[in-house]
Formats: sequence, structure tokens, C-alpha cells
Amino acid sequence: MPVVAMKEMLDRALAGRYGIAAFNILNDLTIEAVLAAATEENAPVILQTSVKTVRAYGRRQLFGIFEALVRDVPVPVTLHLDHCPHRDVISDCLAGGWNSVLFDAHELDVAENLRQTTEVVAEARRTGAHVEGEIEGIQGVEDDLGSDEASRIQSLEVAVDFIKRTGVDCFAPAIGNAHGQYRSAPVLDHQRVSDLVEATGVPMALHGGTGLSDEQFTDLISRGCAKVNISTALKESYLKESLRFLKAAEAQGKWDPPALFTAQRTAVIEMAKRHIRLFGGSGRAW
Ligand code: 13P
Repeated sequence: MPVVAMKEMLDRALAGRYGIAAFNILNDLTIEAVLAAATEENAPVILQTSVKTVRAYGRRQLFGIFEALVRDVPVPVTLHLDHCPHRDVISDCLAGGWNSVLFDAHELDVAENLRQTTEVVAEARRTGAHVEGEIEGIQGVEDDLGSDEASRIQSLEVAVDFIKRTGVDCFAPAIGNAHGQYRSAPVLDHQRVSDLVEATGVPMALHGGTGLSDEQFTDLISRGCAKVNISTALKESYLKESLRFLKAAEAQGKWDPPALFTAQRTAVIEMAKRHIRLFGGSGRAW
């Protein structure tokens, strides 16, 4: 099985200053399509699951699907749990085979967040897994988590102290990024990424990937955003293609589910390939 540790993937990407695309998959079709795109691009890829997706399937069933679909894939793949404030879900996924988790405790004060994140890191190490940390909310509601309010930004010193003392393997800074489509062009604090990477040597996770410009992606990746999250673009490519297909099916009175699945798969593959290429991930499989 080509499953590799998250840290190995991100450390290579940070050293080479390219980004690993991390797609929020939703079901078997989107898992398979993202894996097909990574295979076509010969790129390492991160599949990430929201808590909502884990709960919708059941952890055991979702991992079973992942395991079956990843088995013959020739590129490195890692499975990550996206924003999760719930310690029981974190423990369940770590015990169930996830390679990495984002313990999202930004609603706690930093001291308590630090204390609990340190515990999560210790727990993850017992299964060889890795941890992404977060001390500021990323704006925007996604899969029922988060808020549309801008979060309080912590100082550089607080963020660096958190990263060093918890031992997290990756960190998700709030830099003006937001989940979902941007309502106006985002103004990003790219210097914060450079400062955090320089002070810690730890790769950053860029959240809110959908809607950033090509230049913003390239700049942030060159500064050390080694993990680049894409969720909304996957949902939109999948569902907009479904809508287009179903409208045509209705007009023609022709109902052919496998043809719908092919159209959905093609749309997700194209979306994923475009991002993998843009992030410099093509040809980076090992
Ligand atoms: P988008 O939905 O904006 O692509 O953000 C994805 C993300 O950051 C998942 O945590």
C-alpha cells in the first residue's frame, strides 16, 4: 500500500518548496477520482476527511473504502482528519488508521489548547501519526464547523511558542484566508508564513485554498505552505457537473447512472489535476 506518513510528505515538500494538494473527499467516487488525478500527475496527495464525512459513513466504513481504493495506487498517499475539535473523534481516527489529524482547539484559550494539543501529539506518536495544530479560527463555515466572524490573531511569539512546545508537525495560521468562496479578493499576510517557517522549520497548512489566485498559491508555497487545502472547489466541480448532467438527462428523458458517475469523476479529476500542477506537485512521487 502506498500510504506514507504525513510528516515525510510535508518535510519533502517544504524542502523542495512545492505544495501537496490536500483534498476534502466526500465518498468513494471522490476518493477514487483524486487518486486517479494524483496517479496521472505522478504526485503525492493528501486525502482529508471532515468530521461530518467520518460521521456520515462511520469511521470503520470510511477507512475500509479508503483502504480498498488506495491499495494499488502507485503514488504516495496519506489520510488526514481535517478540523476536529472533538477528542473522541481524534482518538477514534488515530486508532482507526488515519495518518494525521488537525486538532482544532482554537476556541480554547491558547494555554489550554497547548496543553491538549501536547496530549494529542503524544497520542498520535503511539500510532506513528502526525498532528496539525491551530490557535486561530479560519474564517468561514465548512461542513458545519467554524464561523463567519474573523478570528482573533495571536502574536508571532505566541504562535511560535505553541508550535515548539506542542511539537506539532504542521501548523494552520490565519493569514486572511477563509473557507468557501471569497466574497472579495483576499488580502493575505504572506510575511507571517515566512516568519513562522523561519522561526520553527515546521511546514504550514494553507486553508481556504478555493478562490486564491495562482500568484497567491505560488507565493505562499514558496514561503513554506507545504500543505494546501482544497474543499469547496471539489464540491463545486462535483455538484455543478452533476447538475449539468442531470438537466441534460431530464431534457432527453435518459437516466443512466453510470454515465453520471463518469461525468462526475472526470470533473473531479480535472479539478484535482489543475491544483496539483499549480502547486508544483507533479512528478514528485517517490
Ligand atoms: P476551501 O473550501 O476554501 O477550499 O478550504 C478548504 C480547507 O481549508 C479545508 O480545511
